[in-house]
Amino acid sequence: MSIDPRALDTEGLRTAIADELERVRRRSTALTTAILDEDELTAQHSRLMSPLVWDLAHVGNYEELWLLRAAAGIEPMRPEIDDIYDAFEHPRAERPTLPLLSPQESTGYLDLVRRKVLDSLDGLRLDGDAPLLRDAFVYGLVLQHEHQHDETMLATHQLRRGAPVLPLDDERPAPRSKGALPREVFVPGGPFVMGTDDDPWAYDNERPAHEVDVAAFWIDTTPVSTGDYRRFVEAGGYDDERWWHPDGREWLARSGKRTPAFWVRDGGGWARRRFGRLEPLPEDEPVQHVCWFEADAYARWAGRRLPTEAEWEKTASWDPATGTKRRFPWGDAPPTDELANVGQTPYRPSPVGSFPAGASPTGALQLIGDVWEWTSSRFHGHPGFCQFPYPEYSEVFFGGDYRVLRGGSWATDGLAARATFRNWDHPIRRQIFAGFRTARDEDAR
Ligand code: AVJ
Ligand code: FE
Repeated sequence: MSIDPRALDTEGLRTAIADELERVRRRSTALTTAILDEDELTAQHSRLMSPLVWDLAHVGNYEELWLLRAAAGIEPMRPEIDDIYDAFEHPRAERPTLPLLSPQESTGYLDLVRRKVLDSLDGLRLDGDAPLLRDAFVYGLVLQHEHQHDETMLATHQLRRGAPVLPLDDERPAPRSKGALPREVFVPGGPFVMGTDDDPWAYDNERPAHEVDVAAFWIDTTPVSTGDYRRFVEAGGYDDERWWHPDGREWLARSGKRTPAFWVRDGGGWARRRFGRLEPLPEDEPVQHVCWFEADAYARWAGRRLPTEAEWEKTASWDPATGTKRRFPWGDAPPTDELANVGQTPYRPSPVGSFPAGASPTGALQLIGDVWEWTSSRFHGHPGFCQFPYPEYSEVFFGGDYRVLRGGSWATDGLAARATFRNWDHPIRRQIFAGFRTARDEDAR
């Protein structure tokens, strides 16, 4: 479920990579060709999203670009399709009009690329000094890329109308904290190390490690629950300008929204639509499908604020008692069923207060998995940022209106969830599996 390239010899690493490539492909297939017909795969389920068959062939094209052409020096297989699957040439809304490969052609292309990738794996030095191949970085890049597109495809499934198709596996129990939890935890002031230099598969935007002095603050023990958010909705929070960012007021007026996405009136109460099924509103779950403006407004209504990105990462990775950084809130070991809800089983967040074994050194829960958490921060490069291996992953997004999200969701694979991982989106976006927690200054009440 997770690879530590430095703990394996070259042979072990090759085997682990081949296994992970197969695992992610099974996931992509299960979300597309295994359950949907050609019409559904090529349809535009939302203007915010690509047709699923675009995502599918795009991950194959990315794999060809990085693992065959860049890493192994193999000639392009179908150079004429590069443009179609270049995310920067064509915005999502336009992708249905492109001459896309059919689902059958896409599968054939993916299989062919994959066969060549497995053939070339044996000949590559993964322990040398070439930056792309050192610690098998480029394989980490491609594996995380496909998993990220799988999460994107789940967002497309959530937006899709029509009879349910996803065979939901929701049975995995989440261990719960016993007894009452404190509402918030205290994180002492002082410098901590933000970002990483030595996580071999970290993205360029997580580098370099650098010291940031963060004043003491309080932060919610868990993400804000759906029940708490419902109280904000029912208290008229969407009709009270005081709580909203000026641009958020504009979004409210333009969109007419009065609840998070996928809430449906149900008699006097509420239901929510999840992958085509109506369910009672889950009071205990972290609230999901709120945009940054909604998170920001709730925090102000509650007399609090969103945490900064640095506060979030300090909470999730810093042990104030020893002055050391961890890869995850609980330590350096990868997530397990006891520690966090990642990896798409269940297909929803776990109740707030779950995963006591996954607590941070200061006692915060569910920082990894369940829901992405909006922070107050915009997306910039860390000081000393150096683009690698290409500027279009991160750098071209620096300085826009994007806000940073942290921690990963239930739909994020364990391979792409860690305390330094940075996600970003426009502050109006609600289709991602995002919620939030709130914070306050040490002396604020
Ligand atoms: C990091 C999730 C914002 O989906 O646009 C996928 C990831 N980059 N293909 C995105 C990504 C290139 C990216 N996010
Ligand atoms: Fe991509």
